[in-house]
Amino acid sequence: MSEANVQQPTTETAQGPEPGAPDLVPQWGVNTPRGGKTVVNRSLKEDARVPLFLGQTLINSLRDLGYNSTTSALCEHVDNALQWGATEVRVYFRQTGKQGNQRIDAMVYDNGKGMAPRVLKVAIAFGGSMVYDNRSGIGRYGMGMKTAALNITRCVDVYSWQEPGAFYSMTLDVDKIGQDRNNMIELPDPEFTDALPSEVAEMFTKPMDYAKKGRDSHELLADESHKLTEQLGRSGTIVYMPKCDRLTFKTAATLADHALKDMGRIYRKFIDKGVRVYVNNRLVEAFDPTYWMPSARHVKVVGLTETKSALVDSWTVQIPVAEGQLFTTTEVRIRMFLLPVHDWGSLPRVTLKNSLHVFDDHMVSYLRNEREVEIGAEPRLKLKKHSTNAWLRVQIEFTGDADEAFGVAANKQGVRLQQFAVDWILEHDDCRFQRTITNIRKMIRERQLKIAVAEQAGQTNEAERHAMDTEGVQGVALPTPPTDTDEQKAALEANLRGLAVSLRQEEETEEQAFNRVKESKYLTEFKPQEYAPFYDTEYKFGKLILRVNTAHRFYQKVWQPLGDLAKKTNQMGEAESGEGAGDDVADTTRKALVGLKLLLLSLARAQTQMLSGSAQGEENQLFRNLRKAWSDVLETQLLHV
Ligand SMILES: Nc1ncnc2c1ncn2[C@@H]1O[C@H](COP(=O)(O)OP(=O)(O)O)[C@@H](O)[C@H]1O
Ligand SMILES: [Mg+2]
Repeated sequence: MSEANVQQPTTETAQGPEPGAPDLVPQWGVNTPRGGKTVVNRSLKEDARVPLFLGQTLINSLRDLGYNSTTSALCEHVDNALQWGATEVRVYFRQTGKQGNQRIDAMVYDNGKGMAPRVLKVAIAFGGSMVYDNRSGIGRYGMGMKTAALNITRCVDVYSWQEPGAFYSMTLDVDKIGQDRNNMIELPDPEFTDALPSEVAEMFTKPMDYAKKGRDSHELLADESHKLTEQLGRSGTIVYMPKCDRLTFKTAATLADHALKDMGRIYRKFIDKGVRVYVNNRLVEAFDPTYWMPSARHVKVVGLTETKSALVDSWTVQIPVAEGQLFTTTEVRIRMFLLPVHDWGSLPRVTLKNSLHVFDDHMVSYLRNEREVEIGAEPRLKLKKHSTNAWLRVQIEFTGDADEAFGVAANKQGVRLQQFAVDWILEHDDCRFQRTITNIRKMIRERQLKIAVAEQAGQTNEAERHAMDTEGVQGVALPTPPTDTDEQKAALEANLRGLAVSLRQEEETEEQAFNRVKESKYLTEFKPQEYAPFYDTEYKFGKLILRVNTAHRFYQKVWQPLGDLAKKTNQMGEAESGEGAGDDVADTTRKALVGLKLLLLSLARAQTQMLSGSAQGEENQLFRNLRKAWSDVLETQLLHV
């Protein structure tokens, strides 16, 4: 609402009703249309006939019917175009004038079946529709074209034709209607013209000013004006909205960028089927937030080996069309996707964010008759914004029959899922919804862990680094192999290469393993060995090797869970950065794990120290016996932990 509307009444109107006087003096704001005042005053004074709708004022009020953005208002015209058979739709934003005094005109063209003059006349009336309450298509209320156009401008022209060069047009002008003094405002007949006015025609033939000019190809509908009529097609419609006064963004370039981005997603199913949508002469590519459509634009992102999500589950639920109407139901399809975490998880963040849009708020996408009406987190279905959820997608498809259940209103600005529908969806098939989500989230976490392991490839672990960093200050030094001659050096290198082959970890390349073995004094190897002691140690080629037996109960009951916890709390810390508590837990868990590893590394070092220089045979056997006995005792004690 503009500020002027809430100004106090001026003395010209009234100071408020006098005490005791009948309430016949209106207290209008300064922007009340003159015609509206006349009609109302007449009715108040003369007891005249009053129309149900006071057009002069109502048309102004309807301007405020909410649209989320300029793009979503323009989508009403794209909706109409698609409903009426268009294969090509073009959206334009034209900016003219100097800075500070700019003018932006918007326009939507389509090559659909167009409107016969009488249809056009009905269509321009509020409530006028050829598909009123028909729920199979996109339109339903007979409001979209008018309210959406007037939402961004005060005057709209609609042109329609069903044979080339025979244009019929209607205009809705808020100011002109506001001045009309008639009780009932009648629409004139459509005007005929055989050529579009130049300000409309130029929209098609002149290249648009576009922010990212040069980078993308522009496809004009017609590059010369004499070809225009032919290029416009046998039939079609143009909604022209000059001098827009309420837009989401200040420049035509930003408006175009926004429309391009959102429309590619909203109309992805139509684009996939071959409908061409352009914004300022740029072809809109489909964007599929579920990463399932092979024609969607993410497929072209450089560096992907996997281009498709996994469809984890897909099922339908019959839900009542309204609360309590158990016998009239409608089908809702639910599809759940897992993004290619393993392949994409290691991509640069900038690719994930700006090219793939993985982190956009795209968790649940609602499609009504194939057209997306809402996307985002959905707390009603217990799907909140969370870093793990960024890798899952839910697509919920329904038809117009489910409008009440999904809370789709006349302006189609989203979904307000009703509680009874929530219950039906969540409880269906033994809570399949929640079960599948839990399952997917588990898969995401497992895959993220694998990536974390892969990122560790070729790197010494934190405990090994701590042990190495303190080597210099240990009381007793460990012996180092001689490297005085080239021969000795070569021999050592060959030995280390051999060692690297046996110590190579699953995610490592041979070269990574060799570098790790070469750089680190401490090397930990994890290996399952039934009946063997929990750990084993060896000192070879100047390297201290610690072998941890992953089949031992201590590993399974203490070490691994602690390791998992460290990774999990670390991820949590990342997800909720800024919240101290998560970070503290993550930090303590990590340190506990490092401490545990150092416990064994130090034990291994102490043994090596004690053995070096001695004959080794007897003492070595003693250590071995100790390890075995200790491991067995520990295993037994851990039995019921
Ligand atoms: N692009 C178009 N092509 C053909 N007919 C259209 C177009 N846009 C609107 N119409 C006609 O105008 C009527 C009113 O449109 P609208 O106000 O959007 O309401 P609704 O789409 O709910 O019917 C439609 O029912 C249709 O008959
Ligand atoms: Mg419509």
